[in-house]
Amino acid sequence: MPTILAIESSCDDTSAAIVKDGKVLSNVTATQAIHVEFGGVVPEHASRAHQRNIVPTVAVAFQRAELTPEDVDAVAFTRGPGLIGSLMVGVSFAKAFALARDLPLIEVDHMQAHVLAHFAEDPKPEFPFLCLTVSGGHTQLVVVRTALDQKVIGRTLDDAAGEAFDKTGKMLGLDYPAGPEVDRLAQTGQPTVAFARPDPGELNFSFSGLKTSVLYTLQKKLREDPDFVKNNLADTCASIQEVIVSVLLRKIELAVAQTGLTRVALAGGVSANSSLRAGLTELGKEKGWQTFIPRFEYCTDNAAMIGVTGAFKYAAGKFVGQDVAPAARF
Ligand code: KG4
Ligand code: ZN
Repeated sequence: MPTILAIESSCDDTSAAIVKDGKVLSNVTATQAIHVEFGGVVPEHASRAHQRNIVPTVAVAFQRAELTPEDVDAVAFTRGPGLIGSLMVGVSFAKAFALARDLPLIEVDHMQAHVLAHFAEDPKPEFPFLCLTVSGGHTQLVVVRTALDQKVIGRTLDDAAGEAFDKTGKMLGLDYPAGPEVDRLAQTGQPTVAFARPDPGELNFSFSGLKTSVLYTLQKKLREDPDFVKNNLADTCASIQEVIVSVLLRKIELAVAQTGLTRVALAGGVSANSSLRAGLTELGKEKGWQTFIPRFEYCTDNAAMIGVTGAFKYAAGKFVGQDVAPAARF
């Protein structure tokens, strides 16, 4: 089994990991603070920060794994989807490292890797299983037949679930990314504010209507009481969270009914949400499903999931050449 250096740079986190024999020896992530100032990820700033962070991040990953570049057998990297300028930094680094040491290259699909984050540690789900991948850029229901055979059976038609948390949270004056803050504030609130619950049918999602509904509802409430947000922040967060989480859980239930799969997993940054985690665990107990929720470190963007996916691809002999280029849509 190989020792893999893995690189992730699809959005605003620069991450490097060393995965040996399918086990994560180190997983180091440099989060870019610059985006807080701008209330969202500015692509140009993101790629510049990746450029600054990538070498020190990789160096720390080697240090923590107590290995050196001589120990590496292959380099895995996120090819896409993501911000093109961000991806370019990670892809170029991976290609240069592989060229210098004459190593094989493994391209990884960021979304496939979020699902396979479940194989970073025990308990690992048995195939086939159902996975809801919810991040800042994507919302997908996936049938995972095998590690490298994943079929998307439902997706968002507009905003992603994380985007819904971030954009509605921003309307409440919360810093980017607002998701974790909405989660924290919601814990002391009650879902007393009514918002729209858009449902495009089947296994698909739609969150842009929620965003509009929060905007108009708040405008109306603020006309009646200029201190509405200040005095009802926790309840408003709880109300937004309740809509998003209940939609996600309802679609999972529908997907289980349609596929007959009762092993259900969560992946992506939004799976760090405490209400979603508790809701799925509870629903699983009630329905007799086996549920899998990764540790926080493996929910948000990280290179360990790229390395774990790289190990599956290495075993399957799936390599790419030096002519590989990043792909914003992959
Ligand atoms: O997977 P991820 O790190 O990056 C993408 O690939 O997008 O996901 C980031 C998203 C952000 O939208 C962030 O607000 C959301 O995950 N997020 C949360 C929580 N922690 C992170 N959303 C709700 N509750 C949380 N606790
Ligand atoms: Zn992601």
